Amino acid sequence: MAYYRALGRLPRQRHTQLRDDDGHLFREELMGEEGFSSDSSLLYRRGVPSAITDSQVWELPDQSRTPNHPLKPRHLRLHDLDTGACPVEGRRLVLGNNDVRIAYVVTGTDPSPLYRNAIGDECVFVETGSGVVETVFGVVPYRAGDYVVVPRATDHRWVPAEASRLYAIEANSHIHPPKRYLSKYGQLLEHAPYCERDLHGPDETFEVEGTDVEVLVKHRTSAGIVGTRLTYATHPFDVVGWDGCLYPYTFNIEDYMPITGKVHQPPPVHQVFEGWNFVVCNFLPRKVDYHELAIPVPYYHSNVDSDEVMFYVGGDYEARKGSGIGIGSISLHPGGHAHGPQPSAIEASLGVQYFEESAVMVDTFAPLELGEGGRAVEDPAYAWTWAGRGPAASGGSTDDGGPAVYSNS
Ligand SMILES: [Fe+2]
Repeated sequence: MAYYRALGRLPRQRHTQLRDDDGHLFREELMGEEGFSSDSSLLYRRGVPSAITDSQVWELPDQSRTPNHPLKPRHLRLHDLDTGACPVEGRRLVLGNNDVRIAYVVTGTDPSPLYRNAIGDECVFVETGSGVVETVFGVVPYRAGDYVVVPRATDHRWVPAEASRLYAIEANSHIHPPKRYLSKYGQLLEHAPYCERDLHGPDETFEVEGTDVEVLVKHRTSAGIVGTRLTYATHPFDVVGWDGCLYPYTFNIEDYMPITGKVHQPPPVHQVFEGWNFVVCNFLPRKVDYHELAIPVPYYHSNVDSDEVMFYVGGDYEARKGSGIGIGSISLHPGGHAHGPQPSAIEASLGVQYFEESAVMVDTFAPLELGEGGRAVEDPAYAWTWAGRGPAASGGSTDDGGPAVYSNS
């Protein structure tokens, strides 16, 4: 995020002394990406950021994944998923691959433990609820419709003010605006559907005193994703000032300016962010296509190179009428398989001027596998909803347990 911010106390020049009134020298820490070659921030701390006094195993929730085999489009009902109440430890893995994982949690109002994801950036979409995220950079308020982007290795904790439905996109890379939205030096361009004013970082530094403070760290080994409980000699929230282009921020879908056209516009116009091997898009309330013969719902499309995940969060999703998809649903449309509207939705959309839909999409270039949470809330009937009948009606297998005949109405 090449958008410079500065908060709190800083020396006039970097890498020079900063002392408090008693002469205590603050410790300078550079948090930087890609080996001193990308965005970074300089933090000035009271304590020593590397001072740990213990390291123990943190047992993560089930991270197992099941391949999408035999190949099927999937419908997962996230509102049927029972999760733990902790915004971090209560997350259940819904979908994932080696580039990105999607987890879901319905929080209570107790704060999470201190946590950092040492694997990659997190982009947590707030479906409902509000609260704050306390971080080493300061406090970031969140509300429904926010993407909360937390850079890799940022110590933080979630403090919900109310129960919150959180859709956590956890990358193995960094998450940032699409390069095509940016000038060659990193400013968001005029054609981008949002700009720097829409990105909300911390407003002031945030200090907490403490000793022997535990931080949960999610990281990787050759055996996969694991967790460690590190105990720090002093509280990690000891930053008196920082500056740079690396920090957590929020962006709310209300501030996204949808790009519309005379005929149907393809999903890349709805893009918000991207990471390595995946993109994040959102489909939001908007005027739709104004050609006199336009078909407002999408044409059928084969994403030959990607899996497509839609999370339906609000409004009335025109293209999916008759499919069983509703608010809180996820659809997974795998690469190599065409998908599109339910047939009856095409005629019904003709002449429509405005869509009220809200959905968040993640497209991945590598196939997604089902997490244990996704497997727990799958609607087995979904794959057959375009045909109106499933394998039992044609004499095939019924091992998915779904009914044999479905309505497209
Ligand atoms: Fe699609």
